[in-house]
Amino acid sequence: MFSQRAQFVTDQNALTVAVTARRDAGLPVLDLTASNPTRADLALPQSAIRAALQAGLDGAYEPDPLGLLSARQAVAAHVAQLQRRGQTGFATVPPAQILLTSSTSEAYALLLTLLCDAGDRVLVPQPSYPLFEFLGQLHDVRMDPWPSQYADGWHIDMAALTAAITPQTRAILAVSPNNPTGAVLTWGELDLLAALCREHDLALIVDEVFADTLRQPLGDGVATVAGHDGCLTFALGGLSKTCLLPHAKLAWTLVSGPPEPVADALQRLETMADTYLCAATPIQRALPGLLDLAPMIQTVLRERLQGNLRFLQHEVRGTALDVLPVAGGWSAVLRLPQPPDDRDWALYLLETAGVLTQPGWFFDLHGDGWLVLSLLVVPETFRAGVRALVAAVA
Ligand SMILES: Cc1ncc(COP(=O)(O)O)c(C=O)c1O
Repeated sequence: MFSQRAQFVTDQNALTVAVTARRDAGLPVLDLTASNPTRADLALPQSAIRAALQAGLDGAYEPDPLGLLSARQAVAAHVAQLQRRGQTGFATVPPAQILLTSSTSEAYALLLTLLCDAGDRVLVPQPSYPLFEFLGQLHDVRMDPWPSQYADGWHIDMAALTAAITPQTRAILAVSPNNPTGAVLTWGELDLLAALCREHDLALIVDEVFADTLRQPLGDGVATVAGHDGCLTFALGGLSKTCLLPHAKLAWTLVSGPPEPVADALQRLETMADTYLCAATPIQRALPGLLDLAPMIQTVLRERLQGNLRFLQHEVRGTALDVLPVAGGWSAVLRLPQPPDDRDWALYLLETAGVLTQPGWFFDLHGDGWLVLSLLVVPETFRAGVRALVAAVA
């Protein structure tokens, strides 16, 4: 009765089984994976956020497939700040080239529909967060990995990326800053990706949901590809990471590139968006007020992320653990020695120390010894968890 598209593997992995058993048995779990900002006990300007959300409730329903003009203008202004901070030199993206959706995941769905027929392929970064496989399956699109390797920084394996392009490939997707590595696209990499896109008639999609967390100085990192005109380019962002409001459900896609494909893409996206009218009106109305609060919210967030990172770096000093440099994003990647008896480190740490971490393989970080920690975790839990982790590894 059901489609192949909706055929999912529902088995739980060993780590999920173990953590459920531990919690069921009433044993404590020091959770270093928590990344829900609404449960992170952050000192956010709650009453101002509430007032902005409340203001969104006024007014009539005025559907616009791309999203309310006032909301798209606010996105354009927010991204223009990113462009200025990063000195990208790209032209600001006008509201007419911005599409609002209820999430970045939904933006991906529209972009896959725009660009791909069944059986087509999209290149996705590896390591990266595990949503792409599902998005591909739901659209009958094959997601082919393009790898990055760590060697004193993350580097795109350009030879592997080029070799992975097939006649069915329709787009190259990048996540910058990457989740979980925090790696940021460099200007040299952007030029190479754009050249490949031009040569093979591909679109470039860059997920920039963590762009507000980029650390200064940026060096040769690209703060945002919004306005990039070297090829048809889609830059994605949203409220879930910019204002720590995943439940507000609003995201934006900025379209830029050579005028002809941009106009064509927008006209098609408008019809697709008109079919769903994805984004709720109250949240679109609230968006200008919420984005005004973004700098304040990001300041609170930055203190949490940097405080936890400093503690982690301090605790691992002189041990066999290594914290990779973090250029942006909400995570830290740890490199560990060979685990005892070749066991999975995450499982070992849960069973021996009650510490829950994310194993590297969740994010396609291949090879032994990778763990990912959320830097959003409440500091007391983070400190206790890191101390227990370091002691268990020692
Ligand atoms: C890189 C990246 N993109 C997109 C998302 C999802 O964002 P949204 O809530 O807008 O769907 C996440 C969520 O963690 C993410 O890590």
